[in-house]
Amino acid sequence: MTLAFNQVAIIGAGAMGRGIAQIAAQSGSQVWFFDTQTEAAQLARDAVFQVWETLMSKGRFDADTLTAYKSRIHMATTLQDLRSCELVIEAIVERLDTKKNLFIELENLLPETTVLVTNTSSLSVTAIAAALKRPAQFAGYHFFNPVPLMKVVEVIAGLKTSREVCERLTHYATQMGHAPVQAGDTPGFIVNHAGRGYGTEALRLVSEGVTDFATTDRILKDQVGFKLGPFELFDLTALDVSHPVMESIYNQYFQEPRYRPSVMTSQRLAGGVLGKKVGEGFYSYADGKAVLPPDHAVPNVKEFPPVWVSPRATRRIELLKLLKDLGATLETGASPSPQALTLVAPLGFDVTTVAVVERLDPARTVGIDMLFEDAATQRRVLATNPATRIDMRDAAHALFAKDGKAVSVVRDSGGFVTQRVVAHIVNIAADMCQQRVCTPKDLDLAVTLGLGYPLGPLALGDKLGPANILEVLFNLQTVYGDPRYRPSPWLRRRGAIGLSLLHTED
Ligand code: NAI
Repeated sequence: MTLAFNQVAIIGAGAMGRGIAQIAAQSGSQVWFFDTQTEAAQLARDAVFQVWETLMSKGRFDADTLTAYKSRIHMATTLQDLRSCELVIEAIVERLDTKKNLFIELENLLPETTVLVTNTSSLSVTAIAAALKRPAQFAGYHFFNPVPLMKVVEVIAGLKTSREVCERLTHYATQMGHAPVQAGDTPGFIVNHAGRGYGTEALRLVSEGVTDFATTDRILKDQVGFKLGPFELFDLTALDVSHPVMESIYNQYFQEPRYRPSVMTSQRLAGGVLGKKVGEGFYSYADGKAVLPPDHAVPNVKEFPPVWVSPRATRRIELLKLLKDLGATLETGASPSPQALTLVAPLGFDVTTVAVVERLDPARTVGIDMLFEDAATQRRVLATNPATRIDMRDAAHALFAKDGKAVSVVRDSGGFVTQRVVAHIVNIAADMCQQRVCTPKDLDLAVTLGLGYPLGPLALGDKLGPANILEVLFNLQTVYGDPRYRPSPWLRRRGAIGLSLLHTED
């Protein structure tokens, strides 16, 4: 195998530099560490050696391989020591002026053929390259932390980056065992842009009082399969990192409403309630573990009213079968009897609007989120409206909990919890395709590997039905009158044919 780059320099021997050095050396390259703090480079080398020792003791490779890997790590004391390097990967402090100056210096010291790349996660590749004499030789190469485990790299072409340089970097990523994706030089590139939907929409619905943060986390994990709820994620990342990213992407896109951050996190940031690292975030922490508020208890209901299901309910046949399996007495009349618990299952609309439009008694009307197939979820979510009687709410809660599945009851807002968050994620992804940030295929690949979502946003949209996602968005827009929910033209066009299809001009 011919390596795309035999001699590789890593500048900045922090968390990222170490991880990149490890996989570069494992691929067969000779790796040179440089850091302005000499001890940082030595510590980095020791840390990488330690990782390899551990992997060897676990039987991942033998002693000869360990020796070979170690022999490929070298220390540079000056930038001149890097003259033989064909690729220089910068992973220093995230400051535009510092990065620009470093690359100007490197360009003057190193041969013309050297490829220079930045691991920046938030700065413009084009802006860093602006003062360079050879911007064609410069690109973004964005890895994720921890590098050896997060197997995706964004290859970012600045305005003047040559196609050959991107192709060579792409090839080298696969030689390091990573999946390369091509990203336009746009704010957040792919992963940090696509990730905007999850947290911001969850913040919105909690700040509107739809439900609390712990219930939101439970719902999104149990209904969609996210590994971490958005508030667990905020606590882990810490708000001093994630709130500025939210603001920065929102402002870099000139206040695009889809990325609008929340006053909730700016206030918490100001108050120092940052997350797990300070022992207090959305959750409080005891001995490093989150203290979970208890899940909603199932009410004790002795006698259940008969149940009538709206003819316009989403997945109506499935819902009727579920109710039968749960032992409910079903009404089949054109309208509910005066005793009936009345069930609606809207997409995007709030329960109140549906009750009014369908001329149902709001006091007996409860909504259920049927966007996902019931069998595919671990939790059912119901919504009351302001007029729903407590006995009707409790009857619905107890009925849907009869088979032991978890149930959450949220306030009426339109779109429950999952519909809002999922539709927002899919819409942002669709708009990224519209804006040509990347291809649909790279988008889903980058998000599953970079964010650990159970499915890429476009595949998720296809699974749930693009027409259903569109309906949620159209109706949310009606309920809220907020351009935040306007469907991307790409989503509208693809609505009929599928989002992750590859063979069209889109
Ligand atoms: P870090 O703070 O762990 O390490 C940075 C290292 O760079 C330090 O050892 C420091 O001494 C050295 N350094 C600073 N200025 C230097 C200069 N002018 N010349 C040479 N060395 C210098 O930082 P970390 O987390 O490794 O991040 C580095 C870069 O990677 C940043 O641009 C960051 O945005 C980007 N990044 C970070 C991710 C993360 O999760 N930590 C993820 C993806 C990208």
